[in-house]
Amino acid sequence: MSVSIASDTTAGPATRFLTLTPLNAYFGARAEGLDLSRPLTPEQIAELRAAMDHHAVMVFPGQKLSDDQQAAFAEQFGTIEATPTLVDQERRRLPNMQINDISNLGADGKILAADDRRRMFNLGNMLWHSDSSFKPTPAYWSMLHARVIPPEGGETEYVDTRVAWEHLPPRMQDQIRDLVTEHSLIFSRQQLGFEAFSPEETARCTPVPQRLVRRHAESGRLALYLSAHIGRIHGWPTPEAMALIRDLTEFATQRPFVYQHRWTVDDLVIWDNRCTMHRGLRYDDKTWPRDLRRVTLEDVAPTLEQAA
Ligand code: OGA
Ligand code: MN
Repeated sequence: MSVSIASDTTAGPATRFLTLTPLNAYFGARAEGLDLSRPLTPEQIAELRAAMDHHAVMVFPGQKLSDDQQAAFAEQFGTIEATPTLVDQERRRLPNMQINDISNLGADGKILAADDRRRMFNLGNMLWHSDSSFKPTPAYWSMLHARVIPPEGGETEYVDTRVAWEHLPPRMQDQIRDLVTEHSLIFSRQQLGFEAFSPEETARCTPVPQRLVRRHAESGRLALYLSAHIGRIHGWPTPEAMALIRDLTEFATQRPFVYQHRWTVDDLVIWDNRCTMHRGLRYDDKTWPRDLRRVTLEDVAPTLEQAA
């Protein structure tokens, strides 16, 4: 069924299979009409891709998915990232290595102890970031599925950083257009005072360069490529660099630009990491289980190798 969307800023390509409702005045859509647990047709895949290229964040409510079904769905759109770079992988709860465990649970299914290293590490998701921006070839889409949610808190917030770029004063755009940043997991964790990386983890976390401003290929729009993983700007003193990154992040995440997702079990939320940031909000993670599962697809190349 075709739908027309009320707001000019969010109107996207026409749809046949999906019924879309805007999430925010600037980006995002709630999508109903497809069962994502079953293989999609080429037409359905093309329609979903075109909608994602426009809306950047899409919420698919009521999707019952096993880990294997979630991974099979993702593989219709690209290559799933290799083993997630997390601490303490040997204590994994989930057998399927394509799934990122976004929960507060240990391998025994119990809530992690307050001082557990994995809990400290996972708190980094509360900083605005783009997934895997610390990898040479960073992430394309992430797909997060809700299995268990706490009675309050634990929402996830999103912004579209094309919107942020388009609202920046032209003088600022000119100042930052060609900057190159360095991203590492160590930089984001240091912001929260988490320093306890093993030598092996440190070796895996060598900073990688990324463009600060990148072109979102399909929409042709420029996006700020911001992330809590940024720790330097090439050629800049670090404090000056981090003051600018903090300013830009505040600008990009001003409240009117934010969509806050309040989870319902069986929601699947897909976001395009090339042009969005997200963060998890606080909840009482020492009392309530929260179990979300994420599959992330990889982008085609490092941002410096992509057309600007
Ligand atoms: C993620 C993430 C935030 C949350 O899954 O990549 O950052 O709200 N999640 O759990
Ligand atoms: Mn994330």
